[in-house]
Amino acid sequence: MERTTTTIPQADIDRQLSFCREIAALSAARPEQPLAFVDTYGCQQNEADSERIRGYLSQMGYGFTDQEEEAQIIVLNTCAIREHAEQRVLGNLGALVHVKRRHPDQIICVCGCMAQEQHVADKIRQSFRHVDLVFGPHVLWKFPEFIHTLLTSRGRIFQIPDEAGSIAEGIPVVRQDKVKAWVSIMYGCNNFCSYCIVPYVRGRERSRKPEDILNEVRELVAEGYKDITLLGQNVNSYGKDLEEPMDFAGLLEQVNAVPGDFLIRFMTSHPKDATQKLFETMARCEKVAPVLHLPFQAGNDRVLKVMNRKHTIEQYLDKIRALRALIPDIVLTSDVIVGFPGETTPEFEDTLKVLEEVRFDALFTFIYSPRVGTPAAKMDDPMSREEKLQNFNRLVALQDSISEEKHAAYIGKTMRCLVDGESGDSRYPLSARTPGNRLVRLTGDPAVIGQFVQVKITDANKWSLFGEMA
Ligand code: 5AD
Ligand code: SF4
Repeated sequence: MERTTTTIPQADIDRQLSFCREIAALSAARPEQPLAFVDTYGCQQNEADSERIRGYLSQMGYGFTDQEEEAQIIVLNTCAIREHAEQRVLGNLGALVHVKRRHPDQIICVCGCMAQEQHVADKIRQSFRHVDLVFGPHVLWKFPEFIHTLLTSRGRIFQIPDEAGSIAEGIPVVRQDKVKAWVSIMYGCNNFCSYCIVPYVRGRERSRKPEDILNEVRELVAEGYKDITLLGQNVNSYGKDLEEPMDFAGLLEQVNAVPGDFLIRFMTSHPKDATQKLFETMARCEKVAPVLHLPFQAGNDRVLKVMNRKHTIEQYLDKIRALRALIPDIVLTSDVIVGFPGETTPEFEDTLKVLEEVRFDALFTFIYSPRVGTPAAKMDDPMSREEKLQNFNRLVALQDSISEEKHAAYIGKTMRCLVDGESGDSRYPLSARTPGNRLVRLTGDPAVIGQFVQVKITDANKWSLFGEMA
């Protein structure tokens, strides 16, 4: 890629912050503090974006609620990865008509990946007239300006410029969690897997500068965060667009060198760029958690080729073997799509073979969902929904039995886990994570939330482990 990344000038961000101050003056003049509801769908990148939207809202003088009726501003931060996600958003958005009828001053906003799809924006324009603001991921940094316009002159705003994308630093954040934090290291995707909408709505790959990432990590560690996940659509291609030479392994090394007792995780990785150098760096860096999420999507080479994944299954398995040679107890997870157009049942069975061979600790399984504008959506798709469902159920059943066996092998072991919150289960009131990020339900006192503790695993099922403090 020859393109260098555009960074939004600091003066433009400052201008947005001055809109925040003007709005904060309006907020202060109200009899009560106005509230906002930010409703997030989809992946961690969206969670991270919502933290920035909340950061801006907080600077505008808004408090937060999860009650639609109480909110002056409602933001739906949406996901376009599968149809099911879109249907949920449209259902919830439709229901807001009634809320807005009772609260005509309410401002309703739709952002995120769905907002960036032209056909969705058109549908909202015509059929969801109660929506005031639609903006795509590329202009999230202008959110205060949009709200300022709506507060001072009403009307509707649609801002979904089709761009390669830029980097905006210096946007305030309000984080949801006190123990775990997301740090975006790059945005966008250049891979164009044939089923995936992400490259169309999130633009081209672009990397934040290492010093900006490192400063954010240092601040988080100083605030007491213990679990930091470096985020990107495809973190393994970090740095390809930077002027100073830098790659993901190099970044990991630098994050690992930040002083403090914390864990480093990252996602998502693409097998084609997961290199021996990365594996060696993971093995060497003591803060990098022993876990890798490495989607393989399908177990058959013909299907992988049509998916435009740019690797074979043997290459994938070679990488897994190389990684396990360096980190034998590495926790492995993956994403799989069942029912890609033209995938036959014997081809699907190759996916089962990969499960048997690798024995992932957990798997994220999806039935193929056609996305408007992607090459796969135009491909012949002769298999019935019923047959796809049967295959999907076979896949889930196999993985369940593997997960159950892998979890059972933890029983009796003692390991250092991070207690990350309450579980809602009275017998095991705490929730914790093993170094490899497996969920542990834990007995004990909430005072240890946010700490690393030694945990003895006493029981397990296919979803989680159970334990007590050792
Ligand atoms: N249909 C089904 N699953 C999809 N994914 C991405 N696009 C689609 C689609 N059109 C899955 C992939 C990806 C994960 C985030 O979502 O497995 O890794
Ligand atoms: Fe989509 Fe493929 Fe990019 Fe992942 S790597 S976001 S599946 S195009």
